[in-house]
Amino acid sequence: MEIQFVAAAEALAPKTALARIVHEGVTLEGPLSQAAAASRFTGAKGQTLDLLAPTGVEAARLVLVGAGKAESLDAIGVEHAAANAYHAVKASGLTTLRIELPEGSADLASHAALGVRLASYRFDKYRTKEPAEKKPSVIKTEVVADDPVAALEAFAPLAALADAVSFTRDLVSEPANVLYPAEFARRVKALESLGLEVEILGEPEMMKLGMGSLLGVGQGSIRESQLAVMRWNGAADKTAAPIAFIGKGVCFDTGGISIKPADNMEDMKWDMGGAGAVAGLMHVLAGRKAKVNVVGILGLVENMPDGNAQRPGDVVTSMSGQTIEIINTDAEGRLVLADAVWYCQDRFKPKFMVDLATLTGAIIIALGNDLAGCYSNNEELAANLIAASNTEGEPLWRMPLPAQYDKNIDSMIADMKNTGGRPGGSITAAMFIQRFVNGVPWAHLDIASTAWKKPSSVPTIPEGATGYGVRLLNRMVAEKYED
Ligand code: BES
Ligand code: MN
Ligand code: ZN
Repeated sequence: MEIQFVAAAEALAPKTALARIVHEGVTLEGPLSQAAAASRFTGAKGQTLDLLAPTGVEAARLVLVGAGKAESLDAIGVEHAAANAYHAVKASGLTTLRIELPEGSADLASHAALGVRLASYRFDKYRTKEPAEKKPSVIKTEVVADDPVAALEAFAPLAALADAVSFTRDLVSEPANVLYPAEFARRVKALESLGLEVEILGEPEMMKLGMGSLLGVGQGSIRESQLAVMRWNGAADKTAAPIAFIGKGVCFDTGGISIKPADNMEDMKWDMGGAGAVAGLMHVLAGRKAKVNVVGILGLVENMPDGNAQRPGDVVTSMSGQTIEIINTDAEGRLVLADAVWYCQDRFKPKFMVDLATLTGAIIIALGNDLAGCYSNNEELAANLIAASNTEGEPLWRMPLPAQYDKNIDSMIADMKNTGGRPGGSITAAMFIQRFVNGVPWAHLDIASTAWKKPSSVPTIPEGATGYGVRLLNRMVAEKYED
């Protein structure tokens, strides 16, 4: 999608659809007010009114889009309204969308552009036979702004964000025969072009480090496990302790020997959504040259059953030295994170760590399909995450780490076992990871509920990979941790 900011007087190109975003209760002129009254269009959030080509309007088509009450219009509201405008005309055959906002400030204009960028994301590289008339026709969006130059400037960090969210959505959408650990690693290595430093550790290196927990998960796969270490040193003091983000990157989760049922198993190509989000976060931080030192660590494995796969009952030794009895090979994400988290704090001594993982079906049972779960040993970090989640429209709900549940993961023969049973399944999974956190402020986001959406429920998030986490973490870093 090409984005431009234009002055209101700028002539309309042919094949332009004009979208006028209006507040609830606004007085419309003549025929528009008649049309609105005849369609129950009030300007409420989510409403659109398609007027084709009324006389007196130069555009090929006019759409009114509701933005809700004037006093409640915020950045997300504008993004949603602009996204709704895009959806209303995307398949019209017209090629340009021009958006007029209730006020032309650079801030609102830039968020309208972001809304269209996010809404127009499509993963269509494997469609070879889609007829042209089924593809979206709108390829360019012009946003009217009082000061187009200022709007373009305001848009720069948001364009970096949109690029990063698309990068994450692409990773998460890729099928597992294409995106296996080494290919994932190659794609993040390619981000060195943005100024990131990326190191890739393979199985021999991880063996040397003693990462028996992570390696055990990948040992049933012919694809080599990888650990990607991404660094962005944007702070004035390049030696200042970094903040750290760690992602579960299970490129495919069959469950291993504790194999999953066939129904919906294809969804488990998304099981690298945490690693995808961390990669996207590093992308946006580098893209907008954030003034902060950050480490991103991705644990990349494939969980497969075969003759060499780990068995229920096996005991593995993690990098921390702690031993783990494998009760269920399908509880693999926490095994990957155990070593990735330990490695992170051991090597980088970060100010804090946040891990993201599509960790448990239980978080979906607890919170439904819209909220991710937030576990933390640190009040300030948790508060910063929740605040950022609210501003960015990526909902997050604080969950407890009750000490009395910790014994649920005690093992009869090892230091711990990798499942605590069905009750509180997302909680005991978080508490398993906590056993590998060594006094560092830490948060764990269980994003099994939000990494992908079927169907879409938010206009800026098309069905499929959501990119959840990139916006929220980018916002938290920008507001709380930059120089
Ligand atoms: N990747 C799954 C969690 C998941 C389930 C994500 C559904 C998205 C949708 C994870 O590895 C898993 O299999 N967890 C098990 C844990 C259990 C065996 C203790 C689960 O949630 O059932
Ligand atoms: Mn699993
Ligand atoms: Zn998994």
